[in-house]
Amino acid sequence: MSAKLWDKGGVSDTEMMRYTARDDWQLDQRLLPFDLRATRAHVRGLARIGLVNADELARLEAGLDELDARCAVGEFRVTPADEDCHSAIETALVATLGEAGKKVHTGRSRNDQVLVALRLYEKHALATLAEATTTGALALLELAASEAMTPMPGYTHLQRAVPSSIGLWAAGIAESLADALDAIHAASAQCDRCPLGTAAGYGVNIALDRDGVAAELGFASICVNPVAAQASRGSVEVAVLTAAWQAMTAIRRFAWDLSLFTTAEFAFVKLDEALTTGSSIMPNKRNPDVVELMRAACGVLQGAIAELMGMLSLPSGYQRDLQLTKAPLFRGLDEALATTRMLPRVVAGMTFDRERMRRALTPDCFATDRAVELALAGVPFRDAYRQVAKEIASLAEGDADRSLAARTSPGACGDLRLGDIRARFTASAS
Ligand code: ARG
Repeated sequence: MSAKLWDKGGVSDTEMMRYTARDDWQLDQRLLPFDLRATRAHVRGLARIGLVNADELARLEAGLDELDARCAVGEFRVTPADEDCHSAIETALVATLGEAGKKVHTGRSRNDQVLVALRLYEKHALATLAEATTTGALALLELAASEAMTPMPGYTHLQRAVPSSIGLWAAGIAESLADALDAIHAASAQCDRCPLGTAAGYGVNIALDRDGVAAELGFASICVNPVAAQASRGSVEVAVLTAAWQAMTAIRRFAWDLSLFTTAEFAFVKLDEALTTGSSIMPNKRNPDVVELMRAACGVLQGAIAELMGMLSLPSGYQRDLQLTKAPLFRGLDEALATTRMLPRVVAGMTFDRERMRRALTPDCFATDRAVELALAGVPFRDAYRQVAKEIASLAEGDADRSLAARTSPGACGDLRLGDIRARFTASAS
């Protein structure tokens, strides 16, 4: 391994170095563009307080331009010889700029450097997830609009219960995604405070322009207290993954229902052949693996959150344990994004057997409607309920269309209020 930023002439045990650096160099590759952005803002801040002169700033910015360009085409890579992306950047700047490069770390530590890079990355990842969530939800709402009155049974305890519609089902997933979107925005707000300038976690003996640096990086404000800034590492990540987990719970429910609906037993939905996989032994099989993996995403998020939480029993100040929060964060966000991006494809790939769904609305499914109708005619509901219970076996065929149309309370089949749900996605798209 090459000389470390912290090299003071001693000898480091090679195995210890490998053990502590582990796969950080690989994980840090995705933080590199964000660390470069934060580094630029940091040196510009140093220039404003006179710690870097105009010539040095120009050279540092040119050096960072070059690293940005090389990073964008995959040529600037963190290598195992670098401990992390922070070292890679400083090493590269010193190699090309000499003395000016050596000034870049004035007033900062890798501890606040990794915090700011992570927050910039998280804001970006959450914005991408919000966009994908919106796309998926809008696809569900479109389906809900065109199938608002297509009858299907509503289930409780997985037993047929009352008349429902494809529209009610699809809009139900979309509205759960709207709740998840709120959580995504809330997590993003937690990431929106800039930790840069808190240095190792106790501030530094310079009057850094922290507010200016935060504004330049697009943060809403700074993390005020340096100890709190350090302590936020890990718990901010829990908030980020919990928001993603919430989106996955909505998708899991969609996937669960769909895996039932595509069985021969239900046969409500056929999935496009292009969205199915085969079996190596059973020539007859077309399997909805994609739906099952979408269901499993929630478990991946849950595992990542548990892994993060397990890391967080720490005293004040930076501890190297925190390095291990990166892998579950990236794993969880990758899983959530990949899964969410499948949603509109699967929605578009569903073909409904409308007749079969209508036939599944057996006379018993209209028992509640019947009891309510009697109540409307003046029979006290409990008496109506008992009367209908006695007639269950002889109930006549129900009229699904009439039943759906009569469900006019807000949110029900006859008044899905899709516009209200849609507005929660379009309002937050800005
Ligand atoms: N790779 C480290 C991390 O993710 C960067 C900070 C290192 N700081 C230190 N004092 N060793 O936490």
